[in-house]
Amino acid sequence: MIDKDTKLAFVQLTGVGKAIPDQVLTNDHLATLVATSDEWISSRTGIKQRRVLAPGQSLTKLATIAAHNALQQAGRSALDVDLLILATSTPEDLFGGATRVQQELGAARAVAFDLTAACSGFIFALATASQYIQTGKYQTVLVIGADALSRWTDWTDRTTCVLFGDAAGAVVLESAATPGLIGFELRSDGIGSEDLAIASQTEPIPLTTGIAASRAHFSTLAMNGSQVYRFAVAAVPDLIQKTLLQHDISPEQVKGYFLHQANQRILDAVAQRLNIPSERVATNVARYGNTSSASIPLVLEEWSSSDRLQPEDLIVLAGFGAGLSWGAMVARWGRF
Ligand code: ACO
Repeated sequence: MIDKDTKLAFVQLTGVGKAIPDQVLTNDHLATLVATSDEWISSRTGIKQRRVLAPGQSLTKLATIAAHNALQQAGRSALDVDLLILATSTPEDLFGGATRVQQELGAARAVAFDLTAACSGFIFALATASQYIQTGKYQTVLVIGADALSRWTDWTDRTTCVLFGDAAGAVVLESAATPGLIGFELRSDGIGSEDLAIASQTEPIPLTTGIAASRAHFSTLAMNGSQVYRFAVAAVPDLIQKTLLQHDISPEQVKGYFLHQANQRILDAVAQRLNIPSERVATNVARYGNTSSASIPLVLEEWSSSDRLQPEDLIVLAGFGAGLSWGAMVARWGRF
């Protein structure tokens, strides 16, 4: 169905799925690796444990399971998918991981590509996917967020190794008769690009007389935590407020806020700034830590599968992270 005013097709978010690795790494385990404690990590971040992919386990497989679960909830098969977007900063192939997920999933008709925007990746990918549906190009799009930051963690650095975990989550977007997606806003600010990075480094490779190339490899994750914290607690509620205001929705009307799960203190600060009860801000950071592009679908799935969320409920999704980048989306959940 087309919106009479904008001539754009309507978009609904019709299914969500998740997948997590089996291995659980607790704060007490970390205290045997670096000078930290469960008390420090819990009180500063709210995180109690996280999941970590074991050697030989595959992020592609995790992404495929999450995608399969989302399609099942939406009542669609892999062959219905027109477009598959994999939001990841930790692909298993620098050329991209989306086509491997497409192949494992059996989404033979789908066009598939990766999108990189760190912990904002899922929101940026949802926004991208929605445009293909609104213009009428595609009807069914699968957006997957999958990251294994454990592979890029410096396990001797207590300021970062306690924060991250591995997971995958996915959402199905479909062309629909009534609008689910209401609006979104995305932001980028490269001034803060060095505050959070997995930078590549190069070493010279002499080729022949007077000519040299270089070989690249990536360092481990580096972060200026307090800068990122200050940015998140200011920018995220501000953008959520702007996005809601544009659509004449007040923060109290929203049933659930599904924000990137970086730190419980950031989630609490956002609830306070928006003047909403903290129970409206979904959280599972205690159990999974910061799972980067997977965190939003991971927490959305918990509300959806436990019936805390009903079709047509108003939701806000918001991501933030490296780039710096941040984005907010307001929608009505589900198929209705
Ligand atoms: N255990 C014990 N002590 C620690 C630990 C630890 N794991 N980590 C740091 N400390 C120490 C520091 O060394 C410092 O000690 P000092 O005072 O002797 O120098 C002290 O604790 C305070 O350190 P701060 O960095 O000031 O601690 P803060 O209260 O800011 O908390 C934290 C750090 C949790 C990282 C916080 O800044 C934060 O959450 N920032 C946001 C991070 C974030 O959201 N990142 C992800 C963005 S998403 C993406 O794109 C990946």
